[in-house]
Amino acid sequence: MKLVGISGALAGDKTSIVVNQILVHARRFDASIKTELVDLKDYEIDFFNGAPLADYNDDTWNAVKKIQSADLLVFGTPIYQASISGALKNLFDHLPEYTFKHKVTGMVATGWSDKHFLVMEYHLRSVLSYFKGLMPTGNVFVHNGAFNMDSDEIVDDRVLERLQVLAEEMVSLQQGIKHR
Ligand SMILES: Cc1cc2nc3c(=O)[nH]c(=O)nc-3n(C[C@H](O)[C@H](O)[C@H](O)COP(=O)(O)O)c2cc1C
Repeated sequence: MKLVGISGALAGDKTSIVVNQILVHARRFDASIKTELVDLKDYEIDFFNGAPLADYNDDTWNAVKKIQSADLLVFGTPIYQASISGALKNLFDHLPEYTFKHKVTGMVATGWSDKHFLVMEYHLRSVLSYFKGLMPTGNVFVHNGAFNMDSDEIVDDRVLERLQVLAEEMVSLQQGIKHR
């Protein structure tokens, strides 16, 4: 099984650290799982303009193909202006309908306001559902205060535990689908 993590932040490192933590916990839970982090900071994704995928640059093509090759995925976004990042939404705009059919799709987010923990529920879950992603019961919002200010390491044990629970739920659900 392959788990791909997408980090939708182009600015800082917190979102990719959170997404990577899910990948780490998934591998600890099931050593046979392959993982890959698609950090949008490392990709020059073209703006979607209605053209077919073949018309965009290699980074856009590669990111879409990595998503399509995954058995399950976790999406991470920084909260921007009470919504998901534009970079992540632009990547979604490149994907065909049904991309996540029979795939578990988890959600994590980072932000500086606890008031925005529901952004995932209202702005990201609806997009993943549109693509037919199967949603775990849990998701994890990580407040900036959970990070060490200098190293961006997650220092809140409750957050680390919630990330572990989410990773394990995602893998268990996907295993259930596989053996159905
Ligand atoms: C332009 C901008 C808008 C933001 N808007 C929000 C917001 O509406 N709610 C929130 O909780 N955090 C907001 N934030 C804070 C970021 O979500 C937060 O700092 C996040 O951890 C950044 O992730 P990164 O280190 O992966 O870039 C905003 C940050 C920026 C730069």
